[in-house]
Amino acid sequence: MRSTISLFLLLCSVIVSAQVNIIPQPVEVKQQTGVYLLKDKITVSSVLPAHNWPRLFNYLRDEMKMQFNISVTESPKGVKGDIDFFMTRMPTSGKPAYQLYVTGEGVSIKSNFDEPTFHAIQTLFQLIPLSGKKEIPFVEIFDHARFDYRGMHLDVARHFFPVSFIKRYIDYLAYHKFNTFHWHLTDDQGWRIEIKKYPKLTSVGGWRNGTIIGRYPGTGNDRKKHGGFYTQAEVKEVVKYAADRFITVIPEIEMPGHASAAIAAHPVLSCFPEGPTPIPKGTAWNGSKSGKQVQQTWGVFDDVFCAGKETTFYFLEDVLKEVMALFPSKYIHIGGDECPKTNWKKCVLCQRRMKENKLKDEHELQSYFIQRIGKYLDSNGRTLIGWDEILEGGLAPNAVVMSWRGEQGGIDAAKQKHKVIMTPGNPVYFDHSQTENEDSVTIGGFNPIEKVYAYEPIPKELNEEEAKYIMGAQANLWTEYIKNTKKVEYMLFPRMSALSEVLWSTKENRNWEDFQKRLLVQFKRYELWNTNYSKAYFDLKAKVIPSEDYDRLIWKIESRTKEKFIDFRIIEYNGVTDTIAAFDTEPTDIFTIGSTQEILVFGSNSTIKQKFFFNKATGKKITITKEPDSKYPGDGAFTLVNGVINEKGFDRSKEFIGFSGEDCEAIIDLGAKTDFKQVTVNTLTRTSSWIWPPKYADFMLSDDGINFRKPDTGIFSDIEPFMGRKTRLRWHEGSFSARYIKVFIKNWGAIPAGNPGAGSKAWLFVDEIEVE
Ligand code: ACM
Ligand code: ZN
Repeated sequence: MRSTISLFLLLCSVIVSAQVNIIPQPVEVKQQTGVYLLKDKITVSSVLPAHNWPRLFNYLRDEMKMQFNISVTESPKGVKGDIDFFMTRMPTSGKPAYQLYVTGEGVSIKSNFDEPTFHAIQTLFQLIPLSGKKEIPFVEIFDHARFDYRGMHLDVARHFFPVSFIKRYIDYLAYHKFNTFHWHLTDDQGWRIEIKKYPKLTSVGGWRNGTIIGRYPGTGNDRKKHGGFYTQAEVKEVVKYAADRFITVIPEIEMPGHASAAIAAHPVLSCFPEGPTPIPKGTAWNGSKSGKQVQQTWGVFDDVFCAGKETTFYFLEDVLKEVMALFPSKYIHIGGDECPKTNWKKCVLCQRRMKENKLKDEHELQSYFIQRIGKYLDSNGRTLIGWDEILEGGLAPNAVVMSWRGEQGGIDAAKQKHKVIMTPGNPVYFDHSQTENEDSVTIGGFNPIEKVYAYEPIPKELNEEEAKYIMGAQANLWTEYIKNTKKVEYMLFPRMSALSEVLWSTKENRNWEDFQKRLLVQFKRYELWNTNYSKAYFDLKAKVIPSEDYDRLIWKIESRTKEKFIDFRIIEYNGVTDTIAAFDTEPTDIFTIGSTQEILVFGSNSTIKQKFFFNKATGKKITITKEPDSKYPGDGAFTLVNGVINEKGFDRSKEFIGFSGEDCEAIIDLGAKTDFKQVTVNTLTRTSSWIWPPKYADFMLSDDGINFRKPDTGIFSDIEPFMGRKTRLRWHEGSFSARYIKVFIKNWGAIPAGNPGAGSKAWLFVDEIEVE
């Protein structure tokens, strides 16, 4: 039995007038009445230094043509144009800044450096209306950046993207006034940069024989060779393309961990060159498993660069030498994250190195490794950046810390007077989903645009002096689950626009309400750029809540613009139907109730779908004796009788209540003495995430809610399938009659040895309790 209601939520249509809608919001914008018309052909004049002007002019000309179909030429010397560029002092004590004026005379752009001139050009683009006449409003803008470091990262190791897309990515950075592109070029699953001295790095390390299918550990292997790399000529082309857009490219060469691809090319770099590549249990592998292989699955692997061999350092210095020749960036990123010490503990050379250098543990050996590379970079006039694990065992002098495991690494480094770039997983890992209704596989986590917009890069824990060490922030885009450029864009936008404002605009100018108005215009810009952006902003948000008298479920739907209620009555459990009206206003559709209902709600940009499973407990009053853990509160006790049975596993962790080491006890009030034959408890099992099935479950009956008795017939608890993703605990049929049912679900307890999280408390994830 199923039916569908269609609900068309009309969003207020966006009025695009000659309104100033700039992202990121400039420091000062004063709009006046009046507009200046840009014709199809315009002229520009400049008094900028001749050697700098051509790249600015060429950029302006090409983008004006591409984005707005406006032809730009230079006006004859000394003749005013539609747009005139000037160099002047700015009231920013030498910090880059620009002023942009639009009057009846045209546009004039004044700045103290080329870089702010470029940013003024971006602002000008955003003053041009996207439909109708190219009338730009009279305006006075004064603007400069809040943070010096405004970065975006892209992982091209897990999935390779062509140079043409790297350039497009850089264009996106430029449109948003970012100034740094962090290019993650090497990892376990591929080495992506040509190194002339070591051609095997790309001929061998640039390719893997297959990739796991779906979320780790995967449901199979696609058995397709995947790979590619950038030649040095291409790297130079990208670096120049970025420089023309005032963007610095920081390369990342991962060490000492995430080294499987390099080791596949040169096994000698491993502590155990003869040993095979470690392949996690349950990984579907394609091709040979012998010798060293480029990884086909995701995660962290024990086979890392040997810290005991001089060969490793000679090799890395050779690589970095070629890298430094390609990238003029002051900063070189050397990774440093997620390096297991398993091999180092067993390796005689690593142990000898520790002894010789009086290093007390393998963390200090990691610190030795990073410091040695740091010295090499310093001696070449460069500075090392590493992920926050480089704090362990002591920071290298001058090292810049990229704080990713939350903010603590950044806080600690700033207090030690080291420069910091903030990239905390929550909220600036853009590989996490931005919608709760994600259909494609993502790595997990939920970083919606509101959270990104609200992010403040300077942690509260720092005083004014320490805060100066925060250079800025960056969003990271890891691509395990991002196989194509459309998905890159889908994960980026609109979050990247929100981050640009966090990094560029003053703290005082940041305003979520105002940003949302400008965002609606930004969506049109994405369309102009032909960009595949996420429409998660328009998501309908749904929540199931109990009715006042526990005889119905209320499915509450909210949109950005108005609230709707869908309200329906549970009349029958056994497939007999009844007709129910919906909606707070006029019923738009009619649907029927059966044992399962699939309901669809259509919004103008978003659809939500929910399957409801009805049973005798659905929608009833329920209490739990112990609150779930604050990390997994679900919708409280009602989660267990809300008619929603989890079907998407951990992707919808909201559909569970989670208990860490604790049992779950729930009392359901069926409202009146009720006959039933069985009770079923649904739980989730995902031992890789420490989530274990219940040890057992049991139930008791009562007619007054105070005195409970054991049922006298048919009790038997049956766990099926025991260790699968989902466990249903079901009592074999009996004949029961009661008003109250108390269900007790026993936590597994400590995680058994040999499993992830061994010795720690197991999680118990409980979903629907069904009474039939
Ligand atoms: C990281 O996400 N492993 C830096
Ligand atoms: Zn070793």
